[in-house]
Amino acid sequence: DLMQEIKRLEDLFVVDTNKLKAISDHFVSELEKGLTKEGGDIPMNPTWCMGFPTGYETGTFLALDMGGTNLRVCEINLPEEKGEFDIIQSKYRMPEELKTGNADELWGYIADCLQQFIEYHHEGEKLDKLPLGFTFSYPATQEYIDHGVLQRWTKGFDIDGVEGKDVVPPFEKALEERGVPIKLTALINDTTGTMIASAYTDSEMRMGCIFGTGCNAAYMETCGNIPKLAHMGLNPDDQMAINCEWGAFDNEHKILPRTQYDVIIDKESPRPGQQTFEKMIAGLYLGELFRLVLVDLHEQPQVKFFEGADISPLKKPYSLDASFLSDIENDPYENLQETHDIFVNQMGIKPTRPELELLRRLAEVIGTRAARLSACGVAAICKKKNLKTAHVGADGSVFNKYPHFKARGAQALKEILDWETGRDGKPLGKGHDPVEILPAEDGSGVGAALIAALTLKRVQEGH
Ligand code: BG6
Ligand code: GLC
Repeated sequence: DLMQEIKRLEDLFVVDTNKLKAISDHFVSELEKGLTKEGGDIPMNPTWCMGFPTGYETGTFLALDMGGTNLRVCEINLPEEKGEFDIIQSKYRMPEELKTGNADELWGYIADCLQQFIEYHHEGEKLDKLPLGFTFSYPATQEYIDHGVLQRWTKGFDIDGVEGKDVVPPFEKALEERGVPIKLTALINDTTGTMIASAYTDSEMRMGCIFGTGCNAAYMETCGNIPKLAHMGLNPDDQMAINCEWGAFDNEHKILPRTQYDVIIDKESPRPGQQTFEKMIAGLYLGELFRLVLVDLHEQPQVKFFEGADISPLKKPYSLDASFLSDIENDPYENLQETHDIFVNQMGIKPTRPELELLRRLAEVIGTRAARLSACGVAAICKKKNLKTAHVGADGSVFNKYPHFKARGAQALKEILDWETGRDGKPLGKGHDPVEILPAEDGSGVGAALIAALTLKRVQEGH
């Protein structure tokens, strides 16, 4: 019966405290390995973002944000007042075809959006070239801050002719062809942007995380602890943001509790073997995991799941997104009416009460696993940096919208880091947990502007 299946799914997806601890410990050694010359699964990309803002950065900057659900263009003004900013922004759809199209179309589309934005907001003005912070949220090798060689596409992108090359020249060429008055000042990752923007107003910020379509983090490292940069003669006491690209954690498959469904997701993806951790926890994959389990249950006649139903609508890969699971998790358990209606209306499948209970529990275990495994990364950076207390800035659709994600993550941190009481000796909970994951205010816009401002300042000072 279905109770037995629920039990089996729990065994597959529930990750207990000991396992979380073992994963975090292995994570620490992988973070360290990534900072060495030999490297490992986790790239630990140097960003050339050297240190936190003071809060007194000033100027007007454009920011372009590519990598999550939307393409966004912002204009940010940093006034004299500490920690303040004004922002205007436009969102553009990121057409699905573009993600698997060709490079010229991609850069052309982005340049068109920037051009539209400038024409709309600066109509008839004679402009000097505006400095731009470009949040390009994919792994990039950077030798300096206004340059970046795409290591590989992630998050289902698969555009020919971009991997292995500096993304800046073709981007600038597309701008030049259109006569758009912009100068790229800094190329950054969304995690670095999130950390820097959060640190602008909170001096306890130590890390920036994205829990969205993809999952990743950045933190500030002491240059002396980055052996792979030893040959560069940096001041060992200087600080540099490291974009971990932790989505690639455990590509060697040594520790994560992968299920047969995780294996299928990887195999069917455009980049098999890459982003093992991300594929188990990020928003892009949660609905797909759920779908794969349902199809598998239906295909085993003895399980009698959606028996006799035509499940063809469920057979389309990536047809369910994370918001589908959110809706199920938000549905009051007493009647699961909403869940029932979604299946009837979107798929023509009429679930029974026991089937509804399985659907709900499955959404819970997938969502909970995502939050608990994500916490292993946060805990690992805390351990690596020996942080006893910290604020972590977070952004992304899963963090902001997925039900209970924050509480489940906080619970997992508590288990991994063995907290008994809060940082102030009071009972754990909001405002008391030693390490707290807090929503970042518009990381990518403000963060990109701040990093552009910090870069221009360093250039003026002759670094
Ligand atoms: C946005 C940030 O809010 O969150 C982006 O501005 C980031 O830079 C994004 O990439 C991540 O969330 P999602 O859910 O869109 O991948
Ligand atoms: C993917 C990208 C990474 C980004 C993350 C969140 O993991 O590789 O660069 O930070 O998604 O958007």
